Amino acid sequence: MISVWVELNDKSYPIFLHDNWNNLFQEALVYLCRKSCSLRGKKMLIITDENVYDLYHNPVKQAFSSWGIEVVTSVVPPGESSKSLQQAEKLYTAALQANLDRHSLITALGGGVIGDLAGFIASTYMRGIPFIQIPTSLLAQVDSSIGGKVAVNHPSAKNVIGSFYQPECVLMNVAALKTLTGREFSSGMAELIKHGIIRNEAFLTWLEANQAALAARENSLLAQAIHRSCEIKSEIVKRDERETGLRAVLNFGHTVGHAIEAASGYETFTHGEAVSMGMIVEAHIARLLGLISPEYLSRILKILAGADLPIVLPDLDNRLLLKWMQHDKKNVQDRVVFVLPTAPGKAEIFRDVQIDVVLEALDAARQE
Ligand code: GLY
Repeated sequence: MISVWVELNDKSYPIFLHDNWNNLFQEALVYLCRKSCSLRGKKMLIITDENVYDLYHNPVKQAFSSWGIEVVTSVVPPGESSKSLQQAEKLYTAALQANLDRHSLITALGGGVIGDLAGFIASTYMRGIPFIQIPTSLLAQVDSSIGGKVAVNHPSAKNVIGSFYQPECVLMNVAALKTLTGREFSSGMAELIKHGIIRNEAFLTWLEANQAALAARENSLLAQAIHRSCEIKSEIVKRDERETGLRAVLNFGHTVGHAIEAASGYETFTHGEAVSMGMIVEAHIARLLGLISPEYLSRILKILAGADLPIVLPDLDNRLLLKWMQHDKKNVQDRVVFVLPTAPGKAEIFRDVQIDVVLEALDAARQE
């Protein structure tokens, strides 16, 4: 068992990481019993999607039921469209019908969409009830399940209705990653690589050295990578839970990545694919500004390509991409904010990048 402690004063919590459900739940039971005395008789709503339900609902429900918890489950359609206020309303109804009270629990079982949606329900139902994250995608394990960002989308903008709401604990079964498609797995690798680029060169070098074995999804190596990645993200969240400064570095690749997702209608690319191309464009900006060397830019391109991620920007209109960048949540007083690499393992926030540099970087990222 590996665990990482997310240190947030009275909201601190553990991330448990294992390669089977039994050990994971044993550890979680010991922790939760110590924390809240009795789980017997509590009610729980598991929120999951149709794909994850078929794969992992049984062992998870059985484990919670064996603790004496009364479990009901709501299954939502897979995909980003479930992160809506309409879907949220259906889930509040399910929670009310199951008589969930302020001491009940919500469990998010699934990838990033489920974590964000279920966390949002937990943060608002009866002004907030405890919740547990069980992320089953690589992206959710290394990024979205850690740090308490929960949200649903507005029809005109992603993740704008939400809050910071920390779980009781996070349970990660690394064996669950075996069932991901190649694209889903690569999508998570983008966020993992991002953590090395922005915060820890030794981790970046380790990822480069172990890329082939990671792609083969060897459990113990994956567990090491996820563990290190969780440590990096937790350390950032601990210093700046509400993203008033440092936490924004986690958005490297995301100013352009979100614009790519929006400009292409959210269907063409996975989040990690868009972030990969976003990191390339933003690394080009850093190179054009003289912040990093051409050699380091090539290193970033190589590790992303090695994870089967796209590294050439598709043919999307520059004006459309700029329009979406101007909508980014990080922006302050209409200035587009970029997180740019400044050295291996280091990134900083920039608020004064000129538009012509952004345009040049977009064009450079379209060259093979
Ligand atoms: N995914 C970026 C963050 O959690 O801040």
